[in-house]
Amino acid sequence: MVILNKCIRDYFGNYSATFTVGNIRKYLSPNSNLLLSYCNYSSLKKSLHIPILVHQIADFLQPEKCTVLIDMTFGSGGHTRKLLERSKNVKIFCLDRDPLAFEYAKSLQKEYPKQIIPLQGKFSDLPELLKIHGYRQNSIDGILFDFGCSSMQLDDPKRGFVLSKDGPLDMRMDGERSGGITAADVLATASEFDLQKIFKIYGEELHARKIAKSIVETRFSFKPLRRTIELRELIISLFADQFRRDQFGRYSHVCTKIGQALRIFVNNELNEINHAIILAHRYLKIGGIMVTLSCNSLEDTIVKRHVTGNTTENVTDHLPLKFYSFNTLFQPENLKELQKCEWKLMTKHVITPSMYEMDINPRSRSAKLRASIKIE
Ligand SMILES: C[S@@+](CC[C@H](N)C(=O)[O-])C[C@H]1O[C@@H](n2cnc3c(N)ncnc32)[C@H](O)[C@@H]1O
Repeated sequence: MVILNKCIRDYFGNYSATFTVGNIRKYLSPNSNLLLSYCNYSSLKKSLHIPILVHQIADFLQPEKCTVLIDMTFGSGGHTRKLLERSKNVKIFCLDRDPLAFEYAKSLQKEYPKQIIPLQGKFSDLPELLKIHGYRQNSIDGILFDFGCSSMQLDDPKRGFVLSKDGPLDMRMDGERSGGITAADVLATASEFDLQKIFKIYGEELHARKIAKSIVETRFSFKPLRRTIELRELIISLFADQFRRDQFGRYSHVCTKIGQALRIFVNNELNEINHAIILAHRYLKIGGIMVTLSCNSLEDTIVKRHVTGNTTENVTDHLPLKFYSFNTLFQPENLKELQKCEWKLMTKHVITPSMYEMDINPRSRSAKLRASIKIE
């Protein structure tokens, strides 16, 4: 029991997450099976978030050499705990828009009163929040982003993030705090054309038009969709036997894509990410490090375009520079301006979790880590 708990703590920090019996068996060596009988699984089955690539992130940020860091996506604090383990002096601002995550940050602050500063808000609220604490631009040593939803959000049916669990179609990361629109509001009020665009752009869904049409028909013929299961049943009735495989060979259903699209729209996620990287650049010192962990290609593309200098006036460009135009002849001075980049990549390629980590934590399968240094 002691060894098992130590293993889990070493790997994931004190905020460990959902372990199934199967996962624990794989995690332990075959000879350690006896230990399992001593374990109280229910005590491990807390639905906290398992932090991804923790060691690699701590190695990039090097908290022992830093004075101030910002964890922009605190969640349940798995990454922050790892950073605290490596430095007794570093101060960490812990930001999250989710009220539950803010509660976790406040409880971590009780453990580390001199090191943790909880902040509640969106990425775009950062300037105001830092101003209250007297921090200015060019003053931060490292910033971490772990984009997407936490397990606490995904696993709670009352939050309505996942269509496979019955609950209200909510999907707001801020919960009631912001009073913003819910996924149900979007389905009840958006036009067929807008719904199609949301599903196509944010869900990369091939059948966006068919689904949008049928949502609008249902709205007028029966009633607006208010629960996750109602939306799921509608989609399943359209594509009963159309399961697809994703890039990892996993079965992916249209429901997953539609859920992702609605969630991104409701939380304005991609605009927030674009704005956040601009803010990260503004608040990091020269030589400061930004680490990003993306969980889908939409998020990763925004990061990649920023850190490779493929932006114009702070908006990411659709096409890489080399595809701009076959007919355009660039003058050297214009080309220099277009190729200017404020970041230096710390790794040539993205870092992905090992097979071992994916096995323990299947939600880590699509994670991509990038680390960059602010150079100007
Ligand atoms: C994948 S989880 C982070 C998990 C965390 N690294 C951990 O170890 O527990 C992402 C978190 O980012 C938060 N988040 C997403 N978009 C945000 C935004 N625009 N502003 C602030 N927080 C955001 C979510 O509420 C969620 O808690």
